[in-house]
Amino acid sequence: MNDEGEVLWGVCLVCHKGVPDTSVDKRDEAIELRVGGEYKNLCFKCHTVKKHPAAKGSISGSMSDIYASDHLVEPNKIISLNMRLSLKEVYTLLPLDPETGKVTCVTCHNPHEKGVLKGRGDWGADSERRLRSEGLEICQYCHRK
Ligand code: HEC
Ligand code: HEC
Ligand code: HEC
Ligand code: HEC
Repeated sequence: MNDEGEVLWGVCLVCHKGVPDTSVDKRDEAIELRVGGEYKNLCFKCHTVKKHPAAKGSISGSMSDIYASDHLVEPNKIISLNMRLSLKEVYTLLPLDPETGKVTCVTCHNPHEKGVLKGRGDWGADSERRLRSEGLEICQYCHRK
């Protein structure tokens, strides 16, 4: 977005093959990403992050002594159920990698700026670390206590 609150449509092409039409409520072909394979390949073009959250030696600490070896895996039954419950309570998206069904970077992070998308896709945009939690406890989306 520019300072006047207008969308800079050209910037979409950094990540998308075309300019997505945000007025339609279904995915158009322009949403296809510029990088083939898994979604995470796109993020790795500019970000070299270690495994996280809750991985040993990762950028985020674990809240206990329990570590996660890798978050980019297919959610098991309990986690899938938790995600569904969270989506009922919170007006957000938790997209998995469409090819593999695995948790991926954009499951937790919103790559868009606030105001670009309407509805669920806007939740968490511009919040700290671009987390889709928008201030809520992100871990609780998938791990319920
Ligand atoms: C940093 C990379 C990046 C940029 C820049 C970007 N997008 Fe995206 N966009 C993604 C990724 C990754 C997804 C897939 C995740 C998802 O479905 O939310 C996505 C998904 C979408 C979706 C589908 C979301 C939904 O509601 O299902 C729309 C619409 C979209 N982008 C529009 C745009 C527009 C418009 C722009 C430019 C103003 C833009 N994007 C810029 C990475 C980006
Ligand atoms: C073309 C390069 C580029 C790509 C591709 C890209 N990013 Fe970024 N990203 C940036 C830049 C530059 C910033 C810093 C922007 C700022 O300071 O406002 C950033 C900021 C972020 C932040 C906030 C970091 C912080 O410390 O607060 C997160 C999280 C993030 N990106 C995740 C992603 C994810 C997830 C993807 C893949 C969908 C992605 N990025 C793709 C360039 C990129
Ligand atoms: C399960 C949720 C989750 C997934 C999946 C995830 N992240 Fe994060 N990410 C976080 C959290 C939480 C933080 C905040 C870390 C902290 O507490 O310092 C973070 C922080 C970041 C930051 C800021 C780095 C910094 O030095 O502060 C970037 C950039 C980032 N993630 C990119 C990515 C990329 C790229 C991927 C995919 C390879 C990814 N994330 C996958 C939850 C996630
Ligand atoms: C999008 C869903 C999602 C989010 C958000 C998420 N996790 Fe996870 N987490 C998973 C998945 C999937 C696994 C792997 C579970 C399995 O298959 O055993 C996992 C595993 C773990 C494990 C390993 C122990 C275990 O219970 O299996 C820890 C520790 C963990 N996560 C901590 C965190 C923390 C801390 C946060 C918040 C910063 C977080 N997670 C956010 C999905 C998520």
